[in-house]
Amino acid sequence: MEFQENKSLKELNTFGIECQAKYFIEIKKESDLLQLYNEKLFQSEKKLVLGGGSNILLTKKFDGLIIKNSIKGYETIFEDDNFLELKIGAGENWHELVMMCVEKNWGGIENLSLIPGNAGTAPMQNIGAYGVEIKETFKSLEAFEISTGKIKTFNNEDCNFGYRESIFKNEKKNQYIILSISLILDKNPKINLEYGDIKQTLSNKNIIHPTIKDISNAIIEIRQRKLPDPNKIGNSGSFFKNPIIPAEKLNILKKKFPKIVYYPVGENKIKIAAGWLIDKAGWKGKTFNNYGVHKNQALVLVNYGGAKGKEIFDLSEKIINDIELKFSITLEREVNII
Ligand code: EPU
Repeated sequence: MEFQENKSLKELNTFGIECQAKYFIEIKKESDLLQLYNEKLFQSEKKLVLGGGSNILLTKKFDGLIIKNSIKGYETIFEDDNFLELKIGAGENWHELVMMCVEKNWGGIENLSLIPGNAGTAPMQNIGAYGVEIKETFKSLEAFEISTGKIKTFNNEDCNFGYRESIFKNEKKNQYIILSISLILDKNPKINLEYGDIKQTLSNKNIIHPTIKDISNAIIEIRQRKLPDPNKIGNSGSFFKNPIIPAEKLNILKKKFPKIVYYPVGENKIKIAAGWLIDKAGWKGKTFNNYGVHKNQALVLVNYGGAKGKEIFDLSEKIINDIELKFSITLEREVNII
């Protein structure tokens, strides 16, 4: 197999950070991976699997082997009048998958329109937006176990999905390469308008009985309004997770910050809008040379071109410390720091 050496990763991460990998290989089919497994380099080097590169911040040269997962393909596993099970190659672009489902009127993932990244990495962080998470349509995935070279199936319950969490970010971190995912799509789509912004956008257009295409269009419009396009301004979407705190703590915070934005999640647990905290602390729109906090959404850190990953990391550290100081809340990063 032909490994590339000192490969620039600039075009392969949505932050657009210039950074190199000691070794690099792209895999396009399952058999490439089996072949790769028998290579000396695969066994000896530290490894990192790259999907769409939309959830990483590269802070230093990667002193090992980057495996770019470009396994493509769609396969219908099962279909009846109501449902369809679709198997999707890990390297398929997530938004293109959503667009195909919307066109065919297969419901379930339309609220996840315009999320950057690939299908294979979507379950790793249980991608979510506008009241929907991938875990709701997810059936299973097939993954290559790095230590044994064996292919294993993980069903929904095996993945331990949580808010932006799965087993692949925790106990099984760096142990598997996801080959494909299978989703169950609904041929009689149920509309999810739970998120206020969607209702508003549809009513502005006088749409009373929306199709999933209408929902998808509304979400694309909202995202384009609020979030920077990674093709124009380097970013990784939400840099931080929305923190979850005990209800008692919210009561204390509300006295000082009556406008704090929050959502109850489960018993005595409250999710706080981290964007609101960072905005309130005065960071929104702050720019330092060629990087900063986005002007429309304080949760998103941006690279205006040429910033170093370490600079963005240090900015995130300053924000975390400031939020701790002002609100006694510890923010966690959603983005993987490499
Ligand atoms: N807010 C501010 N200032 C800001 C940003 C937000 O006051 O700068 C307030 C908003 O006014 C709103 C609340 O915070 O009342 C929540 O903001 P928004 O609706 O934009 O959603 P979010 O909580 O910031 C989450 C996800 C997004 C997802 C949206 C929509 C996380 C970490 N982020 O953002 O996901 O698109 O909800 O469902 O859960 C991503 O993961 O990359 C991502 C973009």
